[in-house]
Amino acid sequence: MSKQDAVAVKHVDTKPIDGQKPGTSGLRKKVTVFQQEHYLENFVQATFDALPGEKLSGSTLVVSGDGRYLTKPSVATIVRMAAANGVGKVWVGRGGLLSTPAVSAVIRTRSGGEAYGGFILTASHNPGGPHEDFGIKYNCDNGGPAPEKLTNAIYQNTTKIKEYWIADESLQVDLDKLGRTQFMVQHQDGKFGHFAVEVIDEVEDYLRLLRGIYDFNSLSHLLRRPDFKFTFDAMHGVAGPYAKRIFVKELGAPESSLLNCDPKEDFGGGHPDPNLTYAKALVAALGLGDKQPAEIPQFGAACDGDADRNMILGSKFFVTPSDSVAIIAAYAKDAIPYFSKGLKGVARSMPTSAALDRVAEAKGIKCYEVPTGWKFFGNLMDDNRCSLCGEESFGTGSDHVREKDGLWAVLAWLSILAFKASGSRKENLGDKLAKFAPGLHIGDKAKDSGSSGQLVSVEDIVKQHWMHYGRNFYTRYDYEGVESGKADKVIKTLLGKQGEITQVRNFVIDKADEFMYKDPVDGSVSEHQGVRFLFSDGSRVIFRLSGTGSSGATIRMYVEQYVAPDAGPEKLFADAAKALQPLVNVALTLSKMKELTGRNEPTVIT
Ligand code: G6P
Ligand code: ZN
Repeated sequence: MSKQDAVAVKHVDTKPIDGQKPGTSGLRKKVTVFQQEHYLENFVQATFDALPGEKLSGSTLVVSGDGRYLTKPSVATIVRMAAANGVGKVWVGRGGLLSTPAVSAVIRTRSGGEAYGGFILTASHNPGGPHEDFGIKYNCDNGGPAPEKLTNAIYQNTTKIKEYWIADESLQVDLDKLGRTQFMVQHQDGKFGHFAVEVIDEVEDYLRLLRGIYDFNSLSHLLRRPDFKFTFDAMHGVAGPYAKRIFVKELGAPESSLLNCDPKEDFGGGHPDPNLTYAKALVAALGLGDKQPAEIPQFGAACDGDADRNMILGSKFFVTPSDSVAIIAAYAKDAIPYFSKGLKGVARSMPTSAALDRVAEAKGIKCYEVPTGWKFFGNLMDDNRCSLCGEESFGTGSDHVREKDGLWAVLAWLSILAFKASGSRKENLGDKLAKFAPGLHIGDKAKDSGSSGQLVSVEDIVKQHWMHYGRNFYTRYDYEGVESGKADKVIKTLLGKQGEITQVRNFVIDKADEFMYKDPVDGSVSEHQGVRFLFSDGSRVIFRLSGTGSSGATIRMYVEQYVAPDAGPEKLFADAAKALQPLVNVALTLSKMKELTGRNEPTVIT
């Protein structure tokens, strides 16, 4: 590239646009909002201006997204703005695609962790398409979401912005072609600088990382077993290319195991959120729908649009995310090579059930309780306090990256299944159960025969866990699209009840408060993180407003009740909805949900 061919940097006048405050996980708005003139540019310039100039200059950044509508043009814009703001190189996943955990992996590991940070273009599990949602968030050099200090500074900049810089349109690359393109950029002050865009394989770095975590041989052995059927649903999100490469090409699962694995700009018109309501194809395949399929796989999983969330299902069986992380923690040391030395500690978000706490207690490790939002785990991990964490909102992950990781969670579960099939764990829960409930099948009697031993079902693994640790019955009610004023009133009403009421029906309130968190690493304080009612029997009822919606308010109501192992199988294995009904009624009474919102039923129950 010679100086004559240099791309010129333009300076563009702009003015602040209201409402660019990032939420729980970046700035998420309707596509039509993002299509307003200067909207994306303002936010990106505000981010560059919030970063230290000397660090940004000549740095390497990652820019990619989940493939939703607007991803490619937005990547192109950010690349041109990066060039204009003195960035040296941008890595883009092929097709503009990288899953959220893969961005984290690329930042942390590619070329020895060369990247300074990255922009992720996603609205996660929200629908996509011209009339749906788009989003952008910035991740730092630890591979994790920007801390509040930085997102606040970005927001402040958006309220004062007057101008931005962008390289001329001639700075263009074909995002579908792997390889590096060099540019010479002429800045406003007349100086020249080098700039490169490298389109990278979207799976490679992430796969390399996973290979160092799991035993790919034993996973492959499991997935190739003729008597083991597995189904993965990418919900037309970015998980598709990862699933094809990892499950099929690397581990040998048949192609027919994959559902919806071609990424689409509108997620095929669906809502790419892996839960029992939206992951329809998977739910039906696993026999949890109205019709029973002829053959039901033993294991099913789905990821959300940007592949950081996961849902785990067994044959006709749903694993709650709160149980999922607890069970992974229970087996981590035995079943996952990365954890062979044990866990440093574990963490969960406050509304997530305390199932994880019980495992931590048994293993003699610390369990941290943080506010909702993955970013709170990052500090604990950077400080080596926590190796594994999870949230009720279908997020599970470990310190291999600084995002939750959907495919990682699927491989964790497959590792547990492979481990159980190897029969090498000396436990006698099957016998214990036989004593309580003769006739109930628990298949852990397999001999030590590699992963070709007897398969243990997901349901049995979960039931064995409850028999050992007790069960935290759990449900979440979501009231979506509530008018903001009404939602605020619900929260105010609940706060008003605190201190005033000591008992509802036969539930005695032990403690009622608003959750506040002091980060043990940096001492920062986060207030108003959810209204809690803690009852004397260990039950909990929690309310908070969602921080991820793009319009209106969503009220979330979390209900949890603990049953100890000695209660016996009948109580432990009861239907969750039925078992929790009395406590749900208490929650509805406390919040005056029906009166204040006019909603008789929640939009979604998980
Ligand atoms: C995102 C974050 C999660 C968080 C979730 C909460 O997915 O990455 O860490 O749990 O949002 O969403 P909510 O809508 O409840 O604020
Ligand atoms: Zn997501």
